[in-house]
Amino acid sequence: MKDKKIARIEQLKREKGVVILAHYYCRPEVQEVADFLGDSLALSVKARDIDAKVILFAGVHFMGETAKVLSPEKKVLIPNPEATCSLAESCKAEALAQMKAKYPNALVVAYVNTTVGVKALTDICCTSSNALQVVESIPQDREILFVPDKNLGSYIQKVTGRQNMILWDGACHVHEKFSKEGILELKKSHPEAKVVVHPECRGEVAELADYCGSTAGILTYCGESKCDTFIVVTEPGILAEMEKRYPQKKFIPAPSIEGKSCNECEYMKMITLDSIIACLENESPTIELDEQIRQEASRSIEAMVKVG
Ligand code: 13P
Ligand code: SF4
Repeated sequence: MKDKKIARIEQLKREKGVVILAHYYCRPEVQEVADFLGDSLALSVKARDIDAKVILFAGVHFMGETAKVLSPEKKVLIPNPEATCSLAESCKAEALAQMKAKYPNALVVAYVNTTVGVKALTDICCTSSNALQVVESIPQDREILFVPDKNLGSYIQKVTGRQNMILWDGACHVHEKFSKEGILELKKSHPEAKVVVHPECRGEVAELADYCGSTAGILTYCGESKCDTFIVVTEPGILAEMEKRYPQKKFIPAPSIEGKSCNECEYMKMITLDSIIACLENESPTIELDEQIRQEASRSIEAMVKVG
């Protein structure tokens, strides 16, 4: 059944000249039909640079929006517009406008996990792979309003020692649930394992990391490390790519504070083979943006891409 659906997707892709971009947190079978897999930074750049008229974005809504912002001439298909993100939901453009009015001299740095309306009010975007360089590119004496992920923001504050950062009170409901105690317990039975953590996790969890970084950064670290066992403290969708790239290594998903179960992002899991087939057949839903907001958002994303 799965193979038939995959064959149908491949046929539709060929017929319609569609390129599929997918994030590492998607279901393994969705990753299988992707032409490009990546973290949020790599996928944004790929969406901009790729020579294709139609892109299907297998990821959450803000990722499809970012692709459309950077490539307005391309048709951007999204299999499920309901696939949102708790971080993006935690920061509405109107609320950010009010916060900016309170801190008129602050420069706004927004994580890409935000809506296009928030990006339009932002000076420079960042992702988890370049947040450090983005913050370091800003003069030391300039106040920063960092939105919406307080965990990523405080991680960057800790690494840079920067005091003048005002943090939005948002967090990823998936990464917030990793348990420090659960990881320490796992370390007892796997003392040799390296702990790899996404910076959306809480500070007490990030402190346990041998490596803390974006999904792409985590994958590279696991490949380059001499160690062959890793405790993986991020959304478990990434395990498919880890096991594919490094079959000789062992990857242990970290537990949630709610028990042994994995911390899956239900939004990423809304992208299914069936929803991709329907989206390719109907060439809908698509991302449509107001042109002025798109241009304003484009400025803050391009400012980020220039930094790295
Ligand atoms: P990356 O930028 O590391 O791909 O992360 C995106 C994301 O949504 C993490 O929850
Ligand atoms: Fe958003 Fe968290 Fe899902 Fe990433 S894992 S897409 S930050 S809800």
